[in-house]
Amino acid sequence: MTDADLVRDILRMKEDMNAVILAHYYQDSVIQELADIRGDSFELSRRARETDADVIVFAGVHFMAETAKILNPTKTVLIPDMNAGCSLAESAPAHLFRRFREQHPEHLAVTYINCTAEVKALSDIICTSSSAERIVAKLPKEQPIIFAPDKNLGHYVRAKTGRELLLWQGVCTVHEQFSETRIADLRTQHPAAEVIAHPECEGVILRMADFIGSTSALLKHVQESSAQAFIVATESGILHEMRRLAPEKQLIPAPPDTTCACSICDYMKVNTLTKLHRCMKNHAPTVEVEEALRQRALRPIERMLELAEADEEQTARIVAEIRLPFSGGYDQPLR
Ligand code: 13P
Ligand code: SF4
Repeated sequence: MTDADLVRDILRMKEDMNAVILAHYYQDSVIQELADIRGDSFELSRRARETDADVIVFAGVHFMAETAKILNPTKTVLIPDMNAGCSLAESAPAHLFRRFREQHPEHLAVTYINCTAEVKALSDIICTSSSAERIVAKLPKEQPIIFAPDKNLGHYVRAKTGRELLLWQGVCTVHEQFSETRIADLRTQHPAAEVIAHPECEGVILRMADFIGSTSALLKHVQESSAQAFIVATESGILHEMRRLAPEKQLIPAPPDTTCACSICDYMKVNTLTKLHRCMKNHAPTVEVEEALRQRALRPIERMLELAEADEEQTARIVAEIRLPFSGGYDQPLR
């Protein structure tokens, strides 16, 4: 089948199944184009919770589809490829994270959404790159905080909020790879270009950046900045949406420390148009989350969504509900 045939068939099946297709900005552009909703991980979580479609087809990595299932368990959640993992999620095995929490029982755990359901269940508040700084800043000043699993995002939030965070030492292998010298060379070639970077990048790259922000913040910045050219230090899939929103701007992908010209998340790219078609045709693979685990993982995600809009009084109520010292969280065997 040609791509055009696959797209036509996918759109037909979507109607027949009463499905909604959600796609992360790091997916191939052909998948982003046919999706009902494109977004960063925060926006996709919000939309997954709100949808009244019967089936959520999640073109993203596994933790994102799993979050959709946790938030909206009566829906069938399909993912094009079950192997769409994430290096950050892999860097925090749940049994080790539990041990870490047990070693620091008075610390409240703010955990980046890039983690497994088990780690969410062992956490107090989930955050995304667009909400991490805001959430940490809202927590009581005297409260010690663990931030996991991304140490680069943790360092960034620490610098922005002035809070002393105890960091899990995970990294995103895609954002870790940007080359300082190659970006400096690009900057010499394009002196008027702004360097913009995702906070998962290493500190050395963030220090070069004119603007640092989550996926959605980078998109907004490219549209609103008076600069006409940008060196973009994040996964190159985002360039598709940037071009759509700001077609007049020049976008230069920041290169990694290899011979490649841009940085690609291989985990995201295991999802292909053919696999998207196949999962809808077969109604599989589906993402399942065991109910006791789902319930434990749900509240920390809901706290993230609630804190995004909470005033001071509501924030205090949400934080007061968190029980410390840590007492083991989810009590089933952990992966
Ligand atoms: P966002 O939270 O910005 O969507 O990023 C997700 C991600 O995986 C970044 O690498
Ligand atoms: Fe995970 Fe990094 Fe890929 Fe994002 S870019 S999904 S953090 S491996």
